[in-house]
Amino acid sequence: MALFRRKQEPRPDLSDIILPEHIGIIMDGNGRWAKKRGLPRSAGHTAGAQTFRKIARYCSNIGIRYLTVYAFSTENWRRPEDEVGALMKLFKEYLEEAIRDFKDDSIVLRFIGDRSAFSDELVALMQENEAESMDRPGMVLNIAMNYGGRDELVHAVRGIAADVERGALEPEAIDEAVISSHLYTRGQPDPDLIIRPSGEYRTSNFLLWQSAYSEYVIMDILWPDFKESDLDYALIEYAKRNRRFGGV
Ligand code: FPP
Repeated sequence: MALFRRKQEPRPDLSDIILPEHIGIIMDGNGRWAKKRGLPRSAGHTAGAQTFRKIARYCSNIGIRYLTVYAFSTENWRRPEDEVGALMKLFKEYLEEAIRDFKDDSIVLRFIGDRSAFSDELVALMQENEAESMDRPGMVLNIAMNYGGRDELVHAVRGIAADVERGALEPEAIDEAVISSHLYTRGQPDPDLIIRPSGEYRTSNFLLWQSAYSEYVIMDILWPDFKESDLDYALIEYAKRNRRFGGV
């Protein structure tokens, strides 16, 4: 059952619950949100980008250490050209704004995914944002762009094969830690909680390796409508879960 939050419910108190260290969010439902209003899909993405800004800041304020958002998948290139163009424009706007306006913000920006498909301008903005923010003390915000879990594993396997070929690694020494160290999220903890708004029950190629023991919370709400209080409810739901990691 997807979680559905009733409008009049009081805001829960988060002070007594165990918060996840790492949250992943599949920002889904922008297209449906726009369709319901008779707007083009790009309007849904614009609204979704505003929700992203609000929720990222909220996660940072409540003490979440890592947040990974799924902004563009390796499969999203199949969308109509104008929709892809609108998304690229939103990414550029956000990255320019982050460089310009977030100097005093404590958030560390990281981009996960294959950058080779993006324009030189966008890649330069990603690098600039990462370099500018890397020493900040706060939450790590991973933005997954041209990201696919399978694609990430292909890159990891190629990297490991290259290490073996140049004699830096014995095949017998390949273990889970070696694989994790070749992923875009190397050095970061796996996500504890993955939130999927819009009511779909799919992983959609998001953090395939890293989500082996993540708790999923599916919510019947479209991403542009997602509010801080919806995140609170996902956190409460997460806190109720009994995580066993394969044990008893
Ligand atoms: C999925 O909803 C959403 C996307 C493919 C794009 C997500 C992008 C944003 C939220 C905006 C930009 C982000 C940043 C980092 C500035 P959908 O279009 O598949 O929705 P649908 O399932 O209702 O069609």
